[in-house]
Amino acid sequence: ANALRLGVAGLGTVGASVIRLLDKQGNRIAVNSGQAVRVRAVSARDKSRDRGVDLSRFSWFQDPVDLARSDEIDVFVELIGGDNGPAEASVRAALESGKHVVTANKALLAKHGVSLAILAESKGVSLCYEAAVAGGIPIVKTLRESMAGNDISRVYGILNGTCNYILTRMETDGISFEDCLADAQRLGYAEADPTFDIEGNDTAHKLAILTSLAFGTKISADDIYLEGITSITTADIQAADELGYRIKLLGVAQRTDSGIEQRVHPTMVPKSSAIARIDGVLNAVAVDGDYVGEIVLVGPGAGGNATASAVVADISDIARGDLTPVLGMPARDLEDFTQAGMRVH
Ligand code: NDP
Ligand code: HSE
Repeated sequence: ANALRLGVAGLGTVGASVIRLLDKQGNRIAVNSGQAVRVRAVSARDKSRDRGVDLSRFSWFQDPVDLARSDEIDVFVELIGGDNGPAEASVRAALESGKHVVTANKALLAKHGVSLAILAESKGVSLCYEAAVAGGIPIVKTLRESMAGNDISRVYGILNGTCNYILTRMETDGISFEDCLADAQRLGYAEADPTFDIEGNDTAHKLAILTSLAFGTKISADDIYLEGITSITTADIQAADELGYRIKLLGVAQRTDSGIEQRVHPTMVPKSSAIARIDGVLNAVAVDGDYVGEIVLVGPGAGGNATASAVVADISDIARGDLTPVLGMPARDLEDFTQAGMRVH
């Protein structure tokens, strides 16, 4: 078979790691998926920036929308970020021109996920986003595919590597919030605008995607109760410690009699609990299914390599010919979101 041709838009922390991973593991992916995979073209803002990867072998597109529409590619890989602007325009352009899309962009999916899924399904192409939730942890496939036989009652966890890194280092190293955040940014964990991490919005974006997958509802980030970690002090962490607790930023979605409850806030968790021991950039996601019981997945929630691992898993699925419904069921059939406390329709 001809090689699957990729266009990669965004060559920052994640994009550059994806190119490096494909350089190293391309043969493994070809063997596993049955089709060779090749990057053919790329796009970023600054063509002259040194990214530690040789880009001279690829076509360069200054505008990601032009790359998305190009006949040179079969799959558009969006690693730009942002819930509108070039990310949204290029993803829509790719889907409209019949290209498969892989993205790590949870902000985009939280806002436009349902309409993009409907577009992808109408064109018969894939829209894959394993990297968008909890970095390297394969939670999208777990919920959508591995737990397909379960009625899910709750999904919750630590979904932001930057916040968990900050809370961990404030506690273990006594470092200030600001210095921890600066380190998280240097390590490539934080969003381009880190207020999305520390105010809890990034966790909310991921939770909204998980809720849709778990409960078959439309993605609804606006209905999430939201509180970030900006007001947490070292004194709060010490006080929790003395009482036998640690503070974690959790995202929780659960089915109640009156609808689905979604919330994001700092939570005191007993030191003896498994979630209290998730440190640094690690994330953990727990899912309660009626047949399997509780599943807990733990792994790196941010960083170039871990995220590239998830992006490449999606590319491999496309090479294999998988065409799973984007949100686990046809996007047109997703139920309206009914927030707990509101009347069930
Ligand atoms: P970076 O800020 O490191 O990289 C963004 C890239 O997009 C840069 O290469 C930038 O170009 C390019 N870009 C920005 N605007 C444009 C534009 N108008 N046209 C073309 N290219 C543009 O971000 P990350 O790699 O960290 O994140 C990328 C995506 O992955 C985001 O959606 C993020 O939320 C998501 N993500 C990130 C994770 C992480 O750990 N970092 C983990 C999971 C998901 P230039 O380099 O020239 O400035
Ligand atoms: N900024 C995000 C985080 C990246 O820290 O978790 C991974 O989605």
